[in-house]
Amino acid sequence: MGAPSILSIVPRVLCADDDRLTRRFLSEALAGGGYEVDTAADGGAACRLLEERPGFDLLITDHSMPVATGIEVIEHSQRVDPTVPCIIVTALHDLDLAMRAMRAGAVGFIPKPFKADHLLTVAGRALERRQLAVEATRLNLLVPMLERFTMVLANTLESKDCATNRHAERLVGHSEAVARELGLGDDARFSIRVGACLHDIGKVGVPETLLRKPGPLTASERQVMQLHPEIGAAILEDIDTWEDVRLIVRHHHEHWNGAGYPLGLAATDIPLGARIVSVVDAFDVMVSGRAYAPPRPVESAIDELLRERLRQFDPAAVDAFVATLERAGDYHDVVDTVSELDLIAQRAKAFAI
Ligand SMILES: [Fe+2]
Ligand SMILES: [Fe+2]
Repeated sequence: MGAPSILSIVPRVLCADDDRLTRRFLSEALAGGGYEVDTAADGGAACRLLEERPGFDLLITDHSMPVATGIEVIEHSQRVDPTVPCIIVTALHDLDLAMRAMRAGAVGFIPKPFKADHLLTVAGRALERRQLAVEATRLNLLVPMLERFTMVLANTLESKDCATNRHAERLVGHSEAVARELGLGDDARFSIRVGACLHDIGKVGVPETLLRKPGPLTASERQVMQLHPEIGAAILEDIDTWEDVRLIVRHHHEHWNGAGYPLGLAATDIPLGARIVSVVDAFDVMVSGRAYAPPRPVESAIDELLRERLRQFDPAAVDAFVATLERAGDYHDVVDTVSELDLIAQRAKAFAI
């Protein structure tokens, strides 16, 4: 696939028409509208040009031509580069041909006879559409990269804390697995991954002496520490599209029985993402250990989760997590970030953006 040339200053258009006069009219009208124009006198020449000179921003084709029809040229263009918009030139009332061209991938048609300004309007709209498609592709690539960046940021922040080596990363992998187990859709799982990643971001507001204190906290120190969900939610307040992420950060220390903080929410009043992250977070702390508590074996941590069903934890989230753990085998092996990075790199290369 050729690199999209939508960002080039002069858009490139390929015009295919076996009628010399129409070809000339198309060329002059489009050149006058600021386009760089290549022409083909039959369908076969059009197909060759699409392959030999990739990077067209637009294809305008007649239908009845020697060697290959306009619809065949459109189908070929779609195979070479599906982001290139195609327009077919039709006789005034041939709606049937227009529909067949649309099915083959055309984004518009120009009925004959047409004037230069009409041609330029249709071409301009097709280009706008291509620009949107290219931007959507770019966004699709950026979202996973943003997720990775968020992870790096979270891990960096957590390096302030003791014994939290890659805590955020493990939480993301296991929270995603639990969310899948519970049948949640793509959008909910995205929020849960980002929420898991950033759940403790509010600890930037907690003094390092508390985060690194080797023994249990005093009552007043605990009060300071317990501000971190609210601080985290405040940090994310201005990101409108991350409302669900913010709820996870704010409520990841709520308990199913209402005994948690900051609001003392109970049961299903606690956002589902926060209930999931809460279970995985507690488990990771138990098996990783902290300065004041040595690591516990996985089996002992699972027993603790099961004991706290309906007290600290959502029973459905605990059951789903235990099910994923039993399937996964080694707890520390589940997060496979290397393959995820490879995938992003491959996709970026494929789109040459
Ligand atoms: Fe926390
Ligand atoms: Fe945590």
